[in-house]
Amino acid sequence: MQGLYELLSEYSSRDYYPFHMPGHKRNIRCFQDAFAIDITEIDGFDNLHHAEGILLEAEKRAARLYGAEETHYLVNGSTAGILAAISACSRRGGRILMARNCHKSAYHAVFLNGLHVVWLYPDTDMVRGIYGSADPAKVRTLLEQNPGVSAVFLTSPTYDGVVSDIREIAAAAHEHGAVLIVDEAHGAHFAMHSCFPESAVSCGADIVINSIHKTMPSLTQTALIHICGPRIDRVRLRKYLGIYQSSSPSYVLMAGIDCCVNMMTERGEELFEQFCRRIDSARGCLSKMKKLHLVTGTEKELFCYRYDRSRILISTENCEIGGRELYRRLLDRYHIQAEMAAEHYVTLLTSVADTQEGFDRLCRALLEIDAELCAGDFAGEELTQGSGAIPEGERESGPTGTGTQSGHETAQEGERESGPTGTGTQSGHETAQEGERESGSAGTGTRSGHETAQEGERESGSAGTGTRSGHETAQEGERESGPIGTGTRSGHETAQEGEKESGSAGEMQDVRSAPGLPNEEVLNLEEAENSEKYRILLRESAGRVSGEYIYLYPPGIPLLIPGERITQKLLDRLEDFRRQGFELQGLDDYSGETIFVVCEAEQKQR
Ligand SMILES: Cc1ncc(COP(=O)(O)O)c(C=O)c1O
Repeated sequence: MQGLYELLSEYSSRDYYPFHMPGHKRNIRCFQDAFAIDITEIDGFDNLHHAEGILLEAEKRAARLYGAEETHYLVNGSTAGILAAISACSRRGGRILMARNCHKSAYHAVFLNGLHVVWLYPDTDMVRGIYGSADPAKVRTLLEQNPGVSAVFLTSPTYDGVVSDIREIAAAAHEHGAVLIVDEAHGAHFAMHSCFPESAVSCGADIVINSIHKTMPSLTQTALIHICGPRIDRVRLRKYLGIYQSSSPSYVLMAGIDCCVNMMTERGEELFEQFCRRIDSARGCLSKMKKLHLVTGTEKELFCYRYDRSRILISTENCEIGGRELYRRLLDRYHIQAEMAAEHYVTLLTSVADTQEGFDRLCRALLEIDAELCAGDFAGEELTQGSGAIPEGERESGPTGTGTQSGHETAQEGERESGPTGTGTQSGHETAQEGERESGSAGTGTRSGHETAQEGERESGSAGTGTRSGHETAQEGERESGPIGTGTRSGHETAQEGEKESGSAGEMQDVRSAPGLPNEEVLNLEEAENSEKYRILLRESAGRVSGEYIYLYPPGIPLLIPGERITQKLLDRLEDFRRQGFELQGLDDYSGETIFVVCEAEQKQR
């Protein structure tokens, strides 16, 4: 019988390249045999819930690496850190200011603590459906209008790499007596190199949570929670960490965190120098695409304060294919596994563990697809079934199949040899890059809207030739060209007006992040969760108050939460999504046909 382990082993021996989590990319490995080091709290090995020996020392090393005053290991992911942080910074029934594009774990924390939420709606890029940065001025206004908020909770960077002005938001929160908790799950690498935006740890946030498994060479579920400054009740936070984390934290996971921290302390600079050069070079290359568009964070519709250049978002906004078809082509034809397909873009995660060959393969694939799109070749079905480098049988067999892999295997061999710690020669790369250059120029599509942004990208791309100043210059450019700048509101406000009008009509709007929000909140999360509910057909639920969540995973940002009124507009978008093959999650009914709604009598009582 083929169990999970056999399936995983077989998959790992194949040539699928991971542009997804975890950040070790199955390439940087700290140890081989997990069973050999899997123990419990025996003598000499400390206890995570009462750390005073080797684990305390390890946590201190992590704090030093990130510049935090106090850091704790998380073995239940950032999820546990978010639950503990929100619980520690609020009192039952209290008030929290929270961005509506937060991860579901923040909603769960709100429910568990019976909190009342003041919702902050970040502006949304109506072209690609990407949430923008949280606006400090909006935070300030909401805090003025809603006294008694004990904590502000934000996601920065978002799943899409969009970073908010944490320094300004922290100042606003502190002026109003609130603390700032930043879900920096996707930004654990920020503190490693100046080519990334500054970490929230150094921008005045009080608690910062990093999923080191997402973008760093560390095992899945590993994360860190950092405490900075005097505003946090640390005893209370530690108590909640004890509640939300397993009483048997895995020594394998903890050893993985420590190895990652030690590797970064000893060799981080060198590894990240190389990584930043590779990203910049890949971004420079991808900026040559004519139909597909590399998102740079400087697009004027994207309200982005700073952008994480390690996140590669390829937009299909000007193409005849959508995000799902691009994702499929990358997977079926090039064995490139992306992190996520959205309606109008594909997300690829890069990390310090990515190889040059991996980047080359990605660039080559995307430039080839782009050239095909320019040539008017967008018949997805025909392409995925009838052409490409991968033999027919193999394409059908998918990741679990047993097709031969000759062409790709050669590439992987190379990768293994020249991983970040390897010594591979450059000649192979150069050949690939030559190819890129040629195919990149093959297209004839016009890109006028993007060319300006891409110029910037091209400049920063070409900076990746080894000097530090190159990175810094690129960042300067980004900073200057960011549409938000430092404090003017007019752009936002205008856009928001537009959004209000076009919210439902925005044909390119991606329900994954912007389902015509804001939704009407009829009951708060706790009231809704504790109400009597009954099941009805989802398609007949317009006007009812939801008793359940609906989200797409990834990214796990709820489109609908318990207590919100269900609108026909939302139902239409969900249906549209299902037609495209996206799966709705969060509902008890996995088929997505029915939903629990709150009994009307319960609503009236409130
Ligand atoms: C923005 C954000 N925050 C928090 C989490 C939870 O992180 P973890 O998987 O480490 O529990 C995720 C997971 O994808 C996320 O995307």
